[in-house]
Amino acid sequence: MSRRARIALKAAIWGGCLVPLGTLVYWYARDDLTANPISFVTTTLGDWTLRILLASLAMTPIRLVLGVSWPITLRRLLGLFAFFYVCLHFSVWIVLDFFFDWHRMWEDIVKRPYITMGMLGLLSLIPLAATSTAGMIKRLGARRWRRLHRLVYLAGVAGCVHFLWLAKVGRTDQYWYVATLVLLLSIRLGDVALRAVRRRRERRTATVATAEIRMP
Ligand code: HEM
Repeated sequence: MSRRARIALKAAIWGGCLVPLGTLVYWYARDDLTANPISFVTTTLGDWTLRILLASLAMTPIRLVLGVSWPITLRRLLGLFAFFYVCLHFSVWIVLDFFFDWHRMWEDIVKRPYITMGMLGLLSLIPLAATSTAGMIKRLGARRWRRLHRLVYLAGVAGCVHFLWLAKVGRTDQYWYVATLVLLLSIRLGDVALRAVRRRRERRTATVATAEIRMP
């Protein structure tokens, strides 16, 4: 992919990811945030956190299935936008739901399992955002950095469980998110298994070849 196309794609991601926030600001300016604005803003930001997080998780499976490399260049940007949205989502909870009442917030985290899961999702994204720069990749070393960044899968699982546990009876959209996550994880795990089988076969071929050379 050319440099120009890559820049255009990144600009499209920036534009696309800022639309939900822009729309919320527009609705706020028009005083059009429904009869329950706090709940509306919280759920809209939560929805977009999960959508963008799943989009970032989809980049490696897309590369694997289509055999193209460009999705990898978008993974970090999407991950950072997911972090940005979860911070806004969390801030609404802190400021508008609890108004910095730390004691009640702690009680809510401990008492309501879906809030505990949301916190787990948020906490697993923090080290990823903190180490997203090229300098941090260098400092940690590619191997350790890659291992740390597997936390994104934990964030995806926690985000989906958070949604499953908070969804009221009769709702079904949470299952679409779960199905998407299961599909993405299956492709990823399938690739890991395939590579392990290939490595074992190569090792066995190498052992047989060495044995044949040694035979008189
Ligand atoms: C990766 C982390 C997170 C993800 C992916 C996420 C995603 C979501 C989603 C998809 C919803 C449902 C939106 C809907 O009803 O359409 C939601 C709702 C909500 N989330 Fe999160 N969230 C995360 C973290 C958190 C955290 C850290 C908190 C607070 C500690 C939180 C508090 C809430 C609350 C209060 C609701 C509204 C529940 C209700 O409707 O009664 N979330 N979130």
